[in-house]
Amino acid sequence: MNVTVIGTGYVGLVTGACFAEFGMSVTCVDKDKDKIAALNRGEIPIFEPGLEEIVRRNQNSGRLHFTTDTRTAIQRALVIFIAVPTPPQSDGSTDLSYVDQVSRTIGENLNGYKVVVTKSTVPVRTAERVKRGINEAIKESDSQRHHCSVASNPEFLREGSAVEDFMRPDRVVIGADDEQAVAILRDLYAPLNLIDVPLVISSVATAELIKYASNVFLAVKISFINEIANLCEAVGADVHDVARAMGLDGRIGRKFLHPGPGFGGSCFPKDTMSLVQFSRELGVEQRLASAVCEVNVAQRERMADKIENMVGGLEEKTIAFLGLSYKPNTDDVRDSPSIDIIQKLQSRGARIRCYDPQAMENARRVLQDVVFCSDPYDTAKECDGLVLGTEWNEFRKLDFDRLSQLLVEPVVIDLRNIYGPEEMKRRGYRYAGVGR
Ligand SMILES: NC(=O)c1ccc[n+]([C@@H]2O[C@H](COP(=O)([O-])OP(=O)(O)OC[C@H]3O[C@@H](n4cnc5c(N)ncnc54)[C@H](O)[C@@H]3O)[C@@H](O)[C@H]2O)c1
Repeated sequence: MNVTVIGTGYVGLVTGACFAEFGMSVTCVDKDKDKIAALNRGEIPIFEPGLEEIVRRNQNSGRLHFTTDTRTAIQRALVIFIAVPTPPQSDGSTDLSYVDQVSRTIGENLNGYKVVVTKSTVPVRTAERVKRGINEAIKESDSQRHHCSVASNPEFLREGSAVEDFMRPDRVVIGADDEQAVAILRDLYAPLNLIDVPLVISSVATAELIKYASNVFLAVKISFINEIANLCEAVGADVHDVARAMGLDGRIGRKFLHPGPGFGGSCFPKDTMSLVQFSRELGVEQRLASAVCEVNVAQRERMADKIENMVGGLEEKTIAFLGLSYKPNTDDVRDSPSIDIIQKLQSRGARIRCYDPQAMENARRVLQDVVFCSDPYDTAKECDGLVLGTEWNEFRKLDFDRLSQLLVEPVVIDLRNIYGPEEMKRRGYRYAGVGR
């Protein structure tokens, strides 16, 4: 089956490479010429474990192609995935201009029946908008001959384990309002039948909503445990024991009950705001989701306060900050709590030295007036305190004897609870975690 993926970012590249791995003939399109040229030279533009290997294998076998020629890619495909950005606008609503542009381009170049699938996370009813956009752009002379189905197939992969998530998903959601589209998409995902992956077939609107309901529910869990962590600090309780005991209840589950600096990344913050906005437009308030946005913003502020208190004011102080990506195993710094907290510390007068195993290049584009260092020990030199912002494996076995020689004061603020209060006290540090 010929598949085209429009938008070759985190989602589009993983989707394209994995469908090629399933045996499909895949063309990945992007409007970014440099990105496509790099991919054609065999360079992978993002850090994602396992991705380079499957891209290379499928490129070599001739099943995976990269191009900027959208027209040809559309015309050769039976299934076209839209995987372009859907960023937030200033009011929190979703900017659909990238999706609209792709819809028009598909309409202008339609040469037969296609299934157009939104993989981008899009507000409910966007598929209807895509269909309208395509139909409006189909040439008058072609309108009788060409048509398409528009389906929704939301993506649940997690950056850092995206390939594994795509190849072994918990479920695949296919939203389509006609049988032909369902049959084609079932066929596309048939390789996953071998490992019994549940397929959820629904209406298009239901599929669109499943994505938001899932992401926002996880955001609720994170914000909930963060608020409980704050309460633990007030009463001298340990949030890890609370979360563990809660998680042992099968109705609650253990995952996403880790306290920290709040959620970040390119999905949870924007999807939560988007749900609030589009629900409001439909006359249905999402009060829980609104509260989650507020809690998350407040948690980051609280982390800056915590750091300030631990080092005794930030004016003229230098902070060592380890971990810039929004979570480990990715180079993505979009809406990363670390970036936000660093900027808050700077606005309160602090100087910053920082380090991340993979995200330095992306961080350079968004951070100003910080010193980028070569490793944790270089970062700590003459700093008044050390902050752990992301739980990279590299930060799990730090040499604290060496660090205490480098730091002006042995102060650690551990926003991910990598270490524990007792062990850090034994090592002679003043230490603060979250909720302990
Ligand atoms: N990143 C994730 O973990 C994740 C997970 C699930 C869903 N999503 C959703 O998937 C969508 C894409 O996210 P991403 O993280 O892959 O974004 P991204 O920014 O990494 O990639 C998007 C790509 O689309 C390209 N593009 C934009 N307009 C184009 C056009 N008209 N023609 C061709 N290419 C075009 C851009 O150049 C870019 O390379 C978003 O809606 C996001 O919410 C992301």
